Amino acid sequence: MERLDKIISEAGLCSRRDCERLARRGLITVNGLIVKNSAEKVADDAIIELDGEPVARRREVVCIMNKPSGFVTSTDDDRNPTVMELLPDEMLRQKVVPAGRLDKDTEGLLVFTNNGELLHKLISPKYEIKKVYYVEHEGDVTDSAIQKAKEGVLLKDGTVCKSAVIERLEEGKSTICIREGMYHQVKRMYAALGLHVNYLKRIRIGNLPLSDLKPSEVRELSEEEINLLFADPA
Ligand code: URA
Repeated sequence: MERLDKIISEAGLCSRRDCERLARRGLITVNGLIVKNSAEKVADDAIIELDGEPVARRREVVCIMNKPSGFVTSTDDDRNPTVMELLPDEMLRQKVVPAGRLDKDTEGLLVFTNNGELLHKLISPKYEIKKVYYVEHEGDVTDSAIQKAKEGVLLKDGTVCKSAVIERLEEGKSTICIREGMYHQVKRMYAALGLHVNYLKRIRIGNLPLSDLKPSEVRELSEEEINLLFADPA
């Protein structure tokens, strides 16, 4: 059971005070009956309407997208298509935002949520959430590059990165696991190691893999999967 004014204000339709006024005017119904007291508590499955329009309840949502290339990670951009355009209406109604950023030409795992605390934990450097990228590049990863990544790559602007793990897959292909999320970080780290990145895809956050999500596909995470985001990869 929750207060009517709380549900309606959290749905982003009006303030609690406005809700009180609208209720007094008889504009709010619960299961088809007018409710004039906006402080009234209603059942979780009650159907609420405001001025004849159904009120979509806000709930905490965490979802993932397999971001395709060509979309910017932004809620608003005049010149480029944004990842928001790929979200289903229900996720937009729930007011989710991207947790972190992938470059326009980067593909892969992108998390969205409307839970502020979770958002903070995912993007704050303090929590050092591990992110794994699949990288295709010019040149080959050498033992010396792997060692430098482990010790902390010195970027061209003088920034020293936290220790990262690069694994060579084959010539021109590797994975990297980083614990921070600076601007163009992977591309800049590889550039500092003398390797130009041609293709970048995030394939894991914490212990949650992108798995078989198709490009542009979005799906909600279960409680268990949300916990995996914060787990240390084995
Ligand atoms: N590092 C990059 O260089 N680009 C991304 O999109 C993500 C990490």
